[in-house]
Amino acid sequence: IVSIAVFASGSGSNFQAIQEAIERGEINAKIELVVTDKPGAYVVERAKVKNIPVAALSPKNFDSKVAYEQAILSKLQECEVKWIVLAGYMRLIGNTLLDPYASKIINIHPSLLPSFPGKDAIGQAMDHRVKVTGVTVHYVDAGMDTGPIIAQRAVTVVDGDREATEQAIHAIEHELYKEALQKTLT
Ligand code: GAR
Repeated sequence: IVSIAVFASGSGSNFQAIQEAIERGEINAKIELVVTDKPGAYVVERAKVKNIPVAALSPKNFDSKVAYEQAILSKLQECEVKWIVLAGYMRLIGNTLLDPYASKIINIHPSLLPSFPGKDAIGQAMDHRVKVTGVTVHYVDAGMDTGPIIAQRAVTVVDGDREATEQAIHAIEHELYKEALQKTLT
C-alpha cells in the first residue's frame, strides 16, 4: 500500500473521488494526510467525514515560502508519505518539496495542456470559444502546469454553458485521476 498525501485548496471533490476509489479497493494507496493552504476550504470537511488527518497551514503565517514548505515537509515525513497528489492545490510547488519528492508529485488540471495553464482553465476555454477542452494528469515540475503528461481526456464544451461544461470536466477528472493513479503509484 502506497502512502500518499493529497494537497487541495478548494472543494475537494477530487480528494473524495480518490478516497472512495481507495475504499473500493481500486487504488492501492492510503491517504495519510490532506494538506491545505486554505483552512476554511470545504476539503477540510470532506477529510473529517473520511477520518483523514488534515494539515491546514496558511502561508501567511510563515516568513517565507521555504519555511511554509518546510513545515509541510516535516508533516509528510512524520507520516512517511511517498507520493504527493495535487487535487486543486492552487500554488506552485517550490524546491523545498520538489527536491525530496522528485518525480513523485502528480497534478490534475482542467484543460488539455499545454492549452490554458494556470487559474480558471475552464473560464479560459469558454472565453476562447473552444469546442473541445479536457483534463490532463501530469508530473509536477517547477513550472506552472508544465511537467510530463501522464494522461489526457477530451471533454466537449457545452456551448456557452460554463456550469454544464464544468460538471462534465469534473466527472472526467474523477475517472481519469483514478486511472492515472492506478498506473503510476508504486
Ligand atoms: C479541479 O478542476 C482541478 O483540476 C483544478 O481545480 C479543481 C479542484 O476541484 N486544478 C487546477 O486548476 C490546478 N491548476 P476539487 O476541489 O473539487 O477537486
